Amino acid sequence: MTKAKVSDLDFNNLGFGYHDLPYRYKAEYHDGQWQPGELTTDSTIHLSESAVALHYGQEVFEGLKAYRRKDGGVNIFRPDRNAHRMHNSAERLLMPPYPEDKFVEAVKEVVKDNQDFIPPYESGGSLYLRPLLISTSPEIGVHPGHDFLFTIFAMPVGAYYPGGLAPTAFVTSEFDRAAHGGTGQAKVGGNYAASMLPGDNAHKAGYSDVVYLDPREHEYIEELGSANFFGITKDGQFKTPKSPSILPSVTKYSLLALAEEMGMNPVEEAISIHDLDQFAEAGAMGTAAVISPVGSITHEGKKHVFFSETEVGPKTQALYDRLIGIQYGDQEGPEGWVQDVPLV
Ligand SMILES: Cc1ncc(COP(=O)(O)O)c(C=O)c1O
Repeated sequence: MTKAKVSDLDFNNLGFGYHDLPYRYKAEYHDGQWQPGELTTDSTIHLSESAVALHYGQEVFEGLKAYRRKDGGVNIFRPDRNAHRMHNSAERLLMPPYPEDKFVEAVKEVVKDNQDFIPPYESGGSLYLRPLLISTSPEIGVHPGHDFLFTIFAMPVGAYYPGGLAPTAFVTSEFDRAAHGGTGQAKVGGNYAASMLPGDNAHKAGYSDVVYLDPREHEYIEELGSANFFGITKDGQFKTPKSPSILPSVTKYSLLALAEEMGMNPVEEAISIHDLDQFAEAGAMGTAAVISPVGSITHEGKKHVFFSETEVGPKTQALYDRLIGIQYGDQEGPEGWVQDVPLV
């Protein structure tokens, strides 16, 4: 694997892809405890062919970003929320959670040591961080492992919508992403493996991604690809689905708070696929795009258009501007949402 070089990167045309950056953080769990972690230049992992993660999917991960501010400093956005979600995901898969305070410290170390790769403020890009926890024990029976690896690596990623927010088309799927009582609330690889076929079917049919409906009745909206859903009603209320099988999105909880601040009377409640007429605007929310406006949802061959198939709605744009304003440090946000990363 060739190491990435800053001089080879065009920060204005990055997309979302892997780059082998100089440093990543690694810590191992042996003898019932986490051993001291360290930064290393080795981007490979040496595993037994019988490692539990490979066969039985005992692995969880996270995704968060660091943002270059206008003054050259660097912010990370709510890393404590990702640390906590990873803790919950690990417990669901019977893995030892990595201590949450050490998670945040390790994120900062990885950002600091790869700081030359953080895209400049003007590019609209960011440094994406991928924490990963896997079971490395050689087991062939279906048992939880005893040994684990925690790592955080990073890569520069481009602005998701360099030309401004653009609505996309979604389609409902007959497949489920996660079962009722399954692992939908946890960020585990198996959920994403299960989403590849429905996602591919949607892409081949010309849609940007899938709308998953609830696994029991196939009536209520769960998620949009790998993002949570929101709609803004005709009288300006922000609504997002409440369900035990969706991933608790950091972006969703942040937008719920900002919608409150902006007088949009936000609510989490079940949203029927047959009740889309109530919405003037709709969007998908997640770390990758922040907000992706939803132009339309097609269900059982019938297309429902929201605000527009080509233009972003004003309330969606206002929520987006407020959130990225906070992330990039241009606007003051609620207490504790952004943490400065010391660069020396
Ligand atoms: C299935 C799923 N839903 C929602 C989200 C959005 O979560 P967040 O806002 O924490 O990135 C993600 C991305 O992490 C996801 O993979």
